[in-house]
Amino acid sequence: MCGIVGYVGHRDVVPILLEGLTRLEYRGYDSAGVAVVDRGGSVGIRRAAGKLVNLKTELADDPLAGAYGIGHTRWATHGKPTTENAHPHQDAAGRIALVHNGIIENFLELRSGLEERGVEFVSETDTEVIVHLVSSYYEGDLAAAVRRTLDDLEGIYAIVVASADEPDKLVTARQGPPIVVGLGENENFIASDVPPVMGYTRDVVFLDDGQLAVVTPDEVTIQDGAGNAVEAVAQRVTWDPVTAEKGGFKHFMLKEIHEQPTAIRDSLIGRVNRHTGQIDLGELNLDEDLANSMSELLLLGCGTSWHAALVGKYWIEKLAGVPVKVDHASEFRYRDPLVADGAVACAITQSGETADTLAATREAKDRGAKLWTICNVVGSMATRISDGVLLTQAGPEIGVASTKAFTTQLTCLYLIALKLAELRGRLSREAIELRLHNLARLPGQIEGIVAQADKIDEVARRVQHFKQFLFIGRGLLYPIALEGALKLKEISYIHAHGYPAGEMKHGPIALIDDGVPIVALAPQSDLYEKTASNMQEAKARDGFILAVATEGDENLADFSDELLSIPDCLPEFAPLLASVPLQLLSYYVAVRLGCDVDQPRNLAKSVTVE
Ligand code: F6R
Repeated sequence: MCGIVGYVGHRDVVPILLEGLTRLEYRGYDSAGVAVVDRGGSVGIRRAAGKLVNLKTELADDPLAGAYGIGHTRWATHGKPTTENAHPHQDAAGRIALVHNGIIENFLELRSGLEERGVEFVSETDTEVIVHLVSSYYEGDLAAAVRRTLDDLEGIYAIVVASADEPDKLVTARQGPPIVVGLGENENFIASDVPPVMGYTRDVVFLDDGQLAVVTPDEVTIQDGAGNAVEAVAQRVTWDPVTAEKGGFKHFMLKEIHEQPTAIRDSLIGRVNRHTGQIDLGELNLDEDLANSMSELLLLGCGTSWHAALVGKYWIEKLAGVPVKVDHASEFRYRDPLVADGAVACAITQSGETADTLAATREAKDRGAKLWTICNVVGSMATRISDGVLLTQAGPEIGVASTKAFTTQLTCLYLIALKLAELRGRLSREAIELRLHNLARLPGQIEGIVAQADKIDEVARRVQHFKQFLFIGRGLLYPIALEGALKLKEISYIHAHGYPAGEMKHGPIALIDDGVPIVALAPQSDLYEKTASNMQEAKARDGFILAVATEGDENLADFSDELLSIPDCLPEFAPLLASVPLQLLSYYVAVRLGCDVDQPRNLAKSVTVE
C-alpha cells in the first residue's frame, strides 16, 4: 500500500525522491518522509504527517542534500498517521535508515525482545523493529545484516535500507509487496511501482519474493532467499510516461474514464479478428484439451475486480457452458474451499499485487488448480505465479477508484468466454463473428456515453444531497449495480447499496421513501420488463428514480425522475456500457461534494496487506 523510492547516483537525491513519491502518492498518503546521506556521511531525515505537500513544505523550510537516499508515502497499518510513525525509521545511533511497505506479524514479540536488550522505541510502528534488528546484526556488511534480519521476520514486506557507513549503497528486499529496480547510467533507482523510474529509465528488474538486492550507482546484485547470487533479468517498460500524467484532466479518475475506449481497443488488438472470427489469447495457454477437460473455473478477486468476476460468471456459463464459481479472495483463502479435479482458478487483479488475491490463488494452486491471471501490470506477482496470463491493456491506472481497469477486465473475461465457447464447440463461427463485430463497436459507443458528461454532471447536481442510494439491476447488470454503489461510496462517502432488483421486495424496499434515490439499470434485455416493474414498485413508494436505459426508451421516461442513456447493444455488452455513466455519476457527485476523488480517505490503490 505504501509508496517506496530509493536513489543512488550522481544527481541531487531529494528532488528525485520527491518526484518519485509524487508519482506514488496514490499508494498511500497519510504521511511521508525522506532520509538522505550527505557527502559528509551523516543521515538527514525529514518527515511530515498528512499529504506529501506537507513534506515538501518541511523540506523547503529545512532543506536536505545528498547523493543517495530513500523516501516513503505511508498508508497506516500499525500506529496513527503521525510524524513519529512516518517512515523512514532510524536505528538508535542514527546511522541506518529504513522504509517499509507491508506488515510484520510478529513485531510485538520482536519488539519485546529488543526492549529487553535496552532498545528504546520512538514510534508505534511494526517497521521500527526492522531497523533496530538490522542495526543489532550490523558488523560492517549491510546486506548481511539485512539478510539476517529477514530470517526473524514473519509477515510481508518490501524494504529499502541505507547506511551512512556504506556510502552509495542501498539494500532492498521483498516478501510480498513489489519492488522494482530501475537501471540507469551510473545511477540506479528503487521503487514500489514503475512510474517513479519511468522518467529516467525504461529498463527495470522486478524482484521476486525472497530476493534481496544490493544497489550501487554502477551495479545491481541480487541474491535469493538462501543468499545465492541470482542473475538480474531486466525487462523493458513500454508505457508512455505521459499516460501516467493527468493530461489536462482535472483528476486521474476523469482521465481514466475517458481513456476507456482506447483501453478496450488496446485489449482487443492482436487478439481478435472480427473478419475471420479468430480469437488468439496466446499467453493464456488455453487449448482445446484444457477447454474440454476443465471441470470448473474459479474466479477470484477483491472489490471491483470481484464485480468483474461476477459478470464473467454470467458470460462464461452462458456462452461456454463451463461451471464458474466466484469468490471474494479474502474469503476463499480462509474457508477450506473445495477445488474439483481439473479446476482452473483465475485471479482478477488490476495491480497483480493484492495480498488476498495472491493468497487465494496460491491456495487454489495448492489444491491442484491450474492458475490464470487477468492483470494490468506486467511483471507483477500474480502474473509470475500463473500458468496463463491475459493482460488488460489499460495502461497505468492512478486514480484509486478503478474504472478503465474494470472495463478492460470485463473485456478480457468476455474474450475468455468466447474462446472457451469456440474450443468447446458451443458457438458457430458466425455467432462468434457477430459478437466480435459488436465488441469492436464498444469503444465508439463508450465515446458517445463519455460525451454526455455535462448531462451526467447535471444529474449529479440534482442528486448530490441524498444521504444514501440504492442501485438495482438484474442478471448481468446486478454486478454493475454493485460496482455503481461501490464507486459512489468510495469516492463521495455516501452510503450506497447494490441489490438484485428482484430481491427488493424481500427487504430493501422498506428503505424507500422520497429520501432514497434508486439507480435502476434497465437497458433492453429479456429481463427489461421485470426490472421496469421493480422500478414502478419503487416509484409507488415515492422513490426518486434514476434510470440507465437504452437510448430512445420512452417507456421508462414516464416513471423516471432522471434518465441516462446507453446505446443500443447486444444485451451481453450492457455491463460494459452501463458502467460508464455510473462512473461519471460518482465522479461528479464526489467533485460537487468537494471530495478528494483520486485519493479518497482510508483507501490505497494497491492493497498489499490483508
Ligand atoms: C475499487 C477498487 C478496489 C480494487 C481492489 C482489488 O475501485 O479499485 O476495490 O478493485 O482493491 O484490487 P486489484 O484489482 O488490484 O487486485
